[in-house]
Amino acid sequence: MEDDPVLAYHQASKHAPYRYAPGPGYLDWANQPDPFRRFPGTAQELLPLAHGCSDPPFVTLWQQRTLPPQPLHAGSLSYLLAYSLGLAVWKLYGQNRWALRCHPSSGNLHPIEANLLAADPFAGVLHYSARDHLLERRWQPSQPAHWRSLFPPGCFAIALSLVHQRESWKYGLRSYRYCQLNLGHAAAAVAFAAAALGWQTAIAWQLGDQKLATMAGLQEWSSVEKEHPGLLLTLSTQTHPPAFSWSALAESVAQHPFLDQPSPLAAQKLPVWPGIDAVSSACHKADGGCFAGEEKSVWPPLTPSSCTLSAATLLRGRRSGQAYDPRPVLSQASFFRILDRLLPRAGLPPWDLLPEAARVHPVLLVHRVADLPPGRYLLLRDPQQLALWQTLLPADTAWQPVAAAPAHLPLFLLKEEPCAEQAALISCQQEIAADGFFSLALLADFAQGLAKGAWGYRALHWEAGIIGQVLYLAAEEEGVRGTGIGCFFDDLFHQWLGVTDNRLQTIYHFTIGMPIADQRIQTTHPYAHLPKERLDYQPA
Ligand SMILES: Cc1cc2nc3c(=O)[nH]c(=O)nc-3n(C[C@H](O)[C@H](O)[C@H](O)COP(=O)(O)O)c2cc1C
Repeated sequence: MEDDPVLAYHQASKHAPYRYAPGPGYLDWANQPDPFRRFPGTAQELLPLAHGCSDPPFVTLWQQRTLPPQPLHAGSLSYLLAYSLGLAVWKLYGQNRWALRCHPSSGNLHPIEANLLAADPFAGVLHYSARDHLLERRWQPSQPAHWRSLFPPGCFAIALSLVHQRESWKYGLRSYRYCQLNLGHAAAAVAFAAAALGWQTAIAWQLGDQKLATMAGLQEWSSVEKEHPGLLLTLSTQTHPPAFSWSALAESVAQHPFLDQPSPLAAQKLPVWPGIDAVSSACHKADGGCFAGEEKSVWPPLTPSSCTLSAATLLRGRRSGQAYDPRPVLSQASFFRILDRLLPRAGLPPWDLLPEAARVHPVLLVHRVADLPPGRYLLLRDPQQLALWQTLLPADTAWQPVAAAPAHLPLFLLKEEPCAEQAALISCQQEIAADGFFSLALLADFAQGLAKGAWGYRALHWEAGIIGQVLYLAAEEEGVRGTGIGCFFDDLFHQWLGVTDNRLQTIYHFTIGMPIADQRIQTTHPYAHLPKERLDYQPA
């Protein structure tokens, strides 16, 4: 593994019992990174919290394109951003007050910044400030008519970038992986909020990092932390995804530079991790180099749940469980519905983000699901991979299809055994993995994923993050809760599963259970700190 810089990074960033991946060793609270970047001096476009859009039931998002597209205007853009990248709630405990967002983030450190590229309703490149729900005008076209001509009607883009140092401040070398997982979560969060508006979202897979950096104004600021290209989301209110000319957009932006300077993120510039810079360079994505669409499995429509929450309520209400009750049992129907939502159905959010067949598959550690023996299971998200996976897992694997599951669900019992203790141990001794109804490990096929180049390492983590976001929302839909788990003992899990071939690597863990609320923590509305006239509710 060590000859390849990406695989060497992956190996070096593994946690093992008594040997965690290199980290800072302590938390430098005096130099804690600010999760909110601002561009002082830029003109602001306030987004209306009273967005005026219809808010459909969340369950309609799982039906094929049934929602009429809402027109693109400041209100619909506000809905999109508020319920994907916006604040979800403020939490208060003693003297501490912190904001959570609609999309999760390892350590709530939020490495992602978002820049809107649009002709309508605002022309130019505008940074989204989640804290104040406004756009900062960073770049304006000098030739508005030409700029406008570059955007097909009803289409715009959102560039997601990463401040690695926000995560490495706490998690050190391993945090590059977390940054990429966070990107997957955020991309899926945007795709879901867009779907509630009847819009489509895609990832601009043809676009290279260089052009993305140009278009989003990611420059080498001498006194503040650098932003690294993440991915570009293209959105469309039309029935077909937009076809942009990236070269023309990048050329247009490059014609006159961004002159803005963001505010610093910490009292002193945050330390750089050379190992992260090295893997980031190795994973550089050039333009093009994309894949022909693969033939994907076709799945029957999803079974509806009885959830009655609106899309906005569910998307904003998504939370990570901090502790789970180890007693309740999950119904089989809920369990199968959650798993069914992980099958990459074409035309449904967020699966249209991923043009390739599934590369990432969950191994489930089932603890308490009604009438299902505890044990290890596999949901093969692409059944065409079955023969391959049978060669990769140990010869004594049961491969028993789960008879009670819907016929189309490629769910296999691999081995019947109690595995709660093992689940906690593997997840860095975190009890949440044992106390949930089930936990899971997302196993990625590195041979397939990296065949398109080293940047495929990033794409595998995006896929895992996208799956994680679906798990979070599917759990909420069933009235239970999920938690992403980035801290796990990689090779201990591989050994437990009996996987010896390095091509299969676990890249993200997750748990779903019945949450225990922490009564000591108070909550307030996410935008209670804004001036009264901007609020869409009457403060008490
Ligand atoms: C990539 C990733 C890794 C995470 N790892 C862990 C973990 O190991 N343990 C844990 O308790 N929570 C973990 N979380 C959950 C975060 O702590 C949580 O998202 C964050 O505190 C914000 O809370 P929220 O999800 O309720 O908005 C992880 C989240 C993400 C996205």
